[in-house]
Amino acid sequence: MKSIDILVAEHGLIRRGLGILGKARNKLERNERPERAFFEISIDFSRNFADRFHHFKEENVMFGMLAMKEECDLDDEMIALRYQHERNRHFIRQIEAVLDLYADGDPIAATTLLENLAAYISLLRRHIHREDHLFFKMAEKVLSKREDAVLLEHFKHEEERMGGSAFFEKNRDLVYRMNAMMAE
Ligand SMILES: [Fe+2]
Ligand SMILES: [Fe+2]
Repeated sequence: MKSIDILVAEHGLIRRGLGILGKARNKLERNERPERAFFEISIDFSRNFADRFHHFKEENVMFGMLAMKEECDLDDEMIALRYQHERNRHFIRQIEAVLDLYADGDPIAATTLLENLAAYISLLRRHIHREDHLFFKMAEKVLSKREDAVLLEHFKHEEERMGGSAFFEKNRDLVYRMNAMMAE
């Protein structure tokens, strides 16, 4: 397995989460109110799996290695992807900040929630599409076998640091719970 295959596989679970968030967005568009607990679970998944685990490996491990390569011209692309990671963190913070008011029935909070949720889903879908179809293919071309093996080692280390298979299980369970809450 190559290091990039791991990132692509993680996109699968993140996409699944985004699909369920899309259902919550649709409900909000119809003036329905998904319960607060749904958003709390979603924030947990988005922040810990998508961001602190997946985006961290991209930014701090993979981008770091690519930036050191002289023959590599991916700097602009990495700046754009990093910016998108930051915007996604911002949307999640905004969603978290209005949850108390949203749970109290505040109509402006519901609007803020919808705004940030819609932006989060849209940007992250586009981001993943760009990584899968463009950036990772460019990165694969410039990474040597040895560099790929080093990345793989770092990724394994990060997995262990986050809790190994229990971490994956926990996050698959979060997505399962999100889905169950949006099933009705
Ligand atoms: Fe990314
Ligand atoms: Fe990614």
